Amino acid sequence: MHISVMGTGYLGATHAACLAATGHSVVGIDVDPARAAQLSLGRAPFHEPGLDRLLDDGVSSGRLTFDTRPEGAHGADVHFLCVGTPQAPAGGAADLTDLEAAVDSLAPHLDRPCVVVGKSTVPVGTARRLADRIRAAAPAGDAVALAWNPEFLREGRAVSDSLRPDRLVFGVDREESDRALRHVYAAAIGAGVPVVRTDLETAELAKVSANAMLATRISLVNLLAEVCEASGADVAALTEILGLDERIGHRFLAPGLGYGGGCLPKDTRAFVARAEELGVGASAALLREVDAVNLRQRSRTVELATSMLGGSADGATVAVLGAAFKAGSDDLRDSPALAVATALQGLGARVRVYDPMAGASVMRHFPRLVTSRDCEEACAGAELVLVLTDWDEFGGLDPVALSTVVARRRVLDARLMLDAEKWRAAGWHLVALGRGGR
Ligand code: UGA
Repeated sequence: MHISVMGTGYLGATHAACLAATGHSVVGIDVDPARAAQLSLGRAPFHEPGLDRLLDDGVSSGRLTFDTRPEGAHGADVHFLCVGTPQAPAGGAADLTDLEAAVDSLAPHLDRPCVVVGKSTVPVGTARRLADRIRAAAPAGDAVALAWNPEFLREGRAVSDSLRPDRLVFGVDREESDRALRHVYAAAIGAGVPVVRTDLETAELAKVSANAMLATRISLVNLLAEVCEASGADVAALTEILGLDERIGHRFLAPGLGYGGGCLPKDTRAFVARAEELGVGASAALLREVDAVNLRQRSRTVELATSMLGGSADGATVAVLGAAFKAGSDDLRDSPALAVATALQGLGARVRVYDPMAGASVMRHFPRLVTSRDCEEACAGAELVLVLTDWDEFGGLDPVALSTVVARRRVLDARLMLDAEKWRAAGWHLVALGRGGR
């Protein structure tokens, strides 16, 4: 099939490369010329395992091209909308400006029957509105079908999640949309990936619901961790016990500094905003608390760090290990680690940050934070070490070796990564979020 992909961020670039890898002819359209140019060279503008290879294969085979002009999408059978829908500057609602701009730039080029497929995360009810907007502006008018096909990929596993998702959701209101989507995803469907066919609204809601459920699970486990800390119970043993219940399972049960990134925080808030518009805001208050519990992990960590520093962070040298919102990513969007680092800096601490992958981004976007090349450099002279992102590298740190470079052997483990016994045996005062000093 001939396919266009509007927007080439994490979602669009990965989607375009994976479609090309399954044999389609794909053009990725992005308003950012630098991004389009880099992708045209077969290189991803962000870190994503396996993506560079797929991009390179696609570009060299000629099946994958990139363009900045919307007319580059002309003639495609299917047009995917993969534009970002960030949190609006005021309030928690999703900002659909870029998505609407993409639709408006695409519509004049739709002069033959085709299917426009939304993948962006949107408030329920958006698809029907966009369908009217596109058909009013497209020369092909009613011959343009609109479908919604949410994407559930995780950063760091975007390629495998795209090629072999847990499920495919087809929100359709016309037979031809279903047919087109089955053709697009023939490889995954052939490999046994289940398809759920549904209406447009359910498909839109599926994405935010999944993220709201994951966020709720993390905040619930962090509430349990706070209770453990206050009562002397052991959160690691508690989550092991919970996870062994087949109905609960072990995944997304890691307590700590909470969730961040470009999706869970803003999707949870957008869900609440939309629920309020729909008149069901009272029940959605649950998700407001989920957000509040999540943000509290950050302030709790800052308070714990301050108390470990003797009541004031002012003038203290602090090492922050981790800046990305999670391991395996260089993404700093709404990163809990960075929120803690900048809060401590705001309290007067001299903060040195090390992240195995996100160091260059920290330097670019947070020039006031000092970045280090490795853990040792970050920890040199530190009066407190904080572990804030769950990189494996931090779990393997040698407390004996690190003792020789720090000023004070004090460590705050906000991701429950460290072997507490080993660190204490090496003379460290270790406090772990959810475990306190035990
Ligand atoms: C999330 C969803 O998992 C994807 O399914 C979805 O497609 C994506 O958002 C999106 O909406 O585009 P992602 O943001 O890549 O994916 O990150 P996750 O792996 O879900 O992690 C989110 C946050 O939760 C991270 O900050 C992570 O550190 C935190 N987390 C995760 C925990 O604090 N505890 C856990 O047990 C698991």
